Amino acid sequence: MDSKRSHDTETASALPKRVAIITGASSGLGEEFAIQIDSMQAADELWLVARNESALQAVAAKLTTPARPVAADLTVRDDIARIGKLLDDASVKVTFLVNAAGFGKFGDWQTISDEAVDSMIDLNCRGLVDMTHTCLPFMEDGARIIQVASAAAFVPLPHMNVYAASKAFVLRYTRALRWELHGTGITVTALCPTWVKTGFEKVARASKGGHDVHHLFGAQTPAHVVRAALAANKAHLAVSCASLQSAALRLIGKVIPNCITMAGWNIIRRL
Ligand SMILES: NC(=O)c1ccc[n+]([C@@H]2O[C@H](COP(=O)([O-])OP(=O)(O)OC[C@H]3O[C@@H](n4cnc5c(N)ncnc54)[C@H](OP(=O)(O)O)[C@@H]3O)[C@@H](O)[C@H]2O)c1
Repeated sequence: MDSKRSHDTETASALPKRVAIITGASSGLGEEFAIQIDSMQAADELWLVARNESALQAVAAKLTTPARPVAADLTVRDDIARIGKLLDDASVKVTFLVNAAGFGKFGDWQTISDEAVDSMIDLNCRGLVDMTHTCLPFMEDGARIIQVASAAAFVPLPHMNVYAASKAFVLRYTRALRWELHGTGITVTALCPTWVKTGFEKVARASKGGHDVHHLFGAQTPAHVVRAALAANKAHLAVSCASLQSAALRLIGKVIPNCITMAGWNIIRRL
């Protein structure tokens, strides 16, 4: 090996490993983010986070970048602390964080169990914030964060009350964090799609009010939504709507009084 090559090899091995962390990677949007970030070669290793370890292993097997399944329940503080410890021990730079773990339930305040309500808030809000705070110290200029919110963030939605409120939290949190990170070169985008064909519907219907929303009209493919999110994030946009439907809802949420929007939703959800 000539001396330049040997020097390059030494320098490369001295550089911290570039890691992309994707939560909710065992299915749906998270899995699709793993697939598309893999093809971008934006990291030396992908860390795939969710509870179902065998599903994570199956996703890892589809990727060309080395992938590490990290089984964790993100409603549990100790599990997130364990991810922080893994980052400390591995001496890495986080180049990508996608917070896609999340779930919703259909039903009203009487039909969604208190346990599901708490878990939704814990995962969609606290888990997302804690994962962000855990990863930020390992990020530098050029790092990218995508927070999966929802078009439900734009308007209050009866019969998806807590879910929509949790996504409004994600959108507001992401926008303010973006300001705080101004000048660091770290780009943060909130993804706000309407319905997507994933495991979401099955989980959402598993409640006593699971059929309060009849049809998920105009559901998009995860591939389309993730492509739009990555492009918006690359363009340094604060929000990715990923569809005209969602962009229209964003506008409606800004200009039409909530009581009118909710009356409209009450009709649409019964169709
Ligand atoms: N699909 C839609 O219509 C839609 C629309 C707008 C926004 N979203 C948002 O998109 C995100 C991804 O959902 P999806 O549509 O891809 O649904 P999905 O296919 O059901 O994926 C949800 C992911 O979250 C993980 N997860 C659930 N509970 C968890 C926990 N306690 N700890 C760690 N991971 C957990 C699941 O993995 P395990 O079960 O293995 O833990 C799974 O990987 C969610 O935030 C959802 O709110 C979805």
